[in-house]
Amino acid sequence: MPQSATKPFIDVLSGPRQVVPPVWMMRQAGRYLPEYREVRAKAGGFLDLCFNPELAAEVTLQPIRRFGFDAAIIFSDILVIPYALGRSVRFEVGEGPRLEPLDDPAKVATLAKHADFGKLAPVFEALKIVRSALDPKIALIGFCGAPWTVATYMVAGQGTPDQAPARMMAYRHPEAFAEIIDVLVENSIEYLLAQLAAGANALQIFDTWAGVLPPSEFARWSVEPTRRIVEGVRAKVPDAKIIGFPRGAGAQLPGFIEATGVNAVSIDWTAEPAFIRERVQSKVAVQGNLDPLVLITGGAALDRAVDDTLANFAQGRFIFNLGHGIQPETPIAHVEQMLKRVRG
Ligand code: CP3
Repeated sequence: MPQSATKPFIDVLSGPRQVVPPVWMMRQAGRYLPEYREVRAKAGGFLDLCFNPELAAEVTLQPIRRFGFDAAIIFSDILVIPYALGRSVRFEVGEGPRLEPLDDPAKVATLAKHADFGKLAPVFEALKIVRSALDPKIALIGFCGAPWTVATYMVAGQGTPDQAPARMMAYRHPEAFAEIIDVLVENSIEYLLAQLAAGANALQIFDTWAGVLPPSEFARWSVEPTRRIVEGVRAKVPDAKIIGFPRGAGAQLPGFIEATGVNAVSIDWTAEPAFIRERVQSKVAVQGNLDPLVLITGGAALDRAVDDTLANFAQGRFIFNLGHGIQPETPIAHVEQMLKRVRG
């Protein structure tokens, strides 16, 4: 099939380099867009927006209409899994997520083993709406959080600077902590498979907090659970395209790729280019890694950073993205400037 008849984003995941790299942005549906803020205001709370199929589909499509990205990512959150497991999950404006802490073995003993996927039916419905509305050449990405990152929020009940509560629990009560991880592995497999069935063309596993772990703990709590998820998904869908994002994994990326079998890794802006080219991009596709702060800055600094990113990675299999999510204060004109420079 000629490349133009397929999705450039999927082509890169399964094989050849694209001359112009496909491009999308993590958190591309979000508060930097006035049309998102408008829908968000009428939806009620953040979770109300995630669980309203029409509105979730609408905000998923907004950045595609405005910028023509090569991939859409379904509008949802990694914390819908704890929610479907019956944990209390709230999003306070300006404060981020709040959950009931799961910080001792007695509480873990009461954790449900199986999520109520009926609660997530609106996410699957939104995927169907988006897939049928999207141009066939644009890929639709489904996602989940990696068990380690989801567990950090479940244990602490909120985000913390270095996820000390989850690290402490993993040292003090490794069996109870492993129980949380096992529940998340099993339910994430099922959740990702349901997203594929609803129309997702690729999957991303967000391990935002992988980089706070020492190497042996990284192997146990980040790599191994991700490996099990990839294996579980591929047991049912052998050619499932999966992107890993073990943020801050640095020198441990080659081991992560080898162990998990992901098709691509998303890298943050601290990654060393020659190392990535030689040890990572030689094996899988690479996605990243513009610093979201230079996208806020704009001007010549942004042009330089985009050029550097392309010079570093665009000779190989590459998806242009940010190194982490776009910040709410980012000017839209800077996203346009970035896209023009990437696409020429
Ligand atoms: O990328 C996308 O456009 C798809 C949607 C998406 C959201 N969250 C929407 C969201 C995705 C892929 C996520 C993943 C997510 N959620 C991660 C992993 C990736 C990352 O950014 O590190 C994590 C750690 C979370 C948990 C979470 N959700 C936090 C810590 C917060 C608060 C921080 C913030 O930016 O407000 C959220 C809320 C959230 N998730 C918002 C959005 C658009 C902002 C809520 C709002 O609109 O008020």
